[in-house]
Amino acid sequence: MRLDKFVCKSTELTKPEAIEQIRAGDVSVNGCIITDEATQVHENNAILLNGSRLKTRDFRYILMHKPAGTICSNKDELYPSLFNYLEIENVSELHIAGRLDADTTGMVLITDDGRWSFNITRPTQKCSKVYRVGLSRDIGEDVAAKFEHGIALQGELQLTLPAQLEVISAKEVLLTITEGKFHQVKRMFAAVGNRVVSLHREAIGDVNLDLDVGQWRYLTNDEVQSFNR
Ligand code: URA
Repeated sequence: MRLDKFVCKSTELTKPEAIEQIRAGDVSVNGCIITDEATQVHENNAILLNGSRLKTRDFRYILMHKPAGTICSNKDELYPSLFNYLEIENVSELHIAGRLDADTTGMVLITDDGRWSFNITRPTQKCSKVYRVGLSRDIGEDVAAKFEHGIALQGELQLTLPAQLEVISAKEVLLTITEGKFHQVKRMFAAVGNRVVSLHREAIGDVNLDLDVGQWRYLTNDEVQSFNR
């Protein structure tokens, strides 16, 4: 693997930061200072940054089916934390890539790889999230066009990014969005005079929720990589 990639994988540095450190002569490989970031290295090489040995970290990537009445927080508050369902070590190092409200159910992705979770949460990455939405009123005929165009949410200057609506029945729809503003789905329907009565996230990117409520599993390598495209 390239030296800059190795430095990124084993530290919190971004690629430009890693390149800067390499070019500054802060990185050695098997005792030699290397200033070319494209140099090929192996994980077994002794790679040091400012004298400290770097090791690639084994990040964890987890898919969970969030039950209602749990919160996407590392500790219990008014509701129990979702992390109570994870019977694994060092849970405090994990975070959720795209939180759900306490009453929302469905797919959450959990990781300790901050750069990876940006691929899911940063709107510029255009990572889709599909929600099954139950509504208090019949869906209006003009709502799909309004969501596709983008709508003004209360308190926001910018319109929402284009979102796709698929009508399942008068009071049930699938909504696909690529951003994750605070209470976004509930606020989008409020902005068109409706109210969300149930909310369930079915998919993120190319990955669909395939677990029962409260279950979790590690993502496959292909699933992890699908968010790096
Ligand atoms: N939008 C909401 O309003 N709530 C969620 O939990 C997720 C998206």
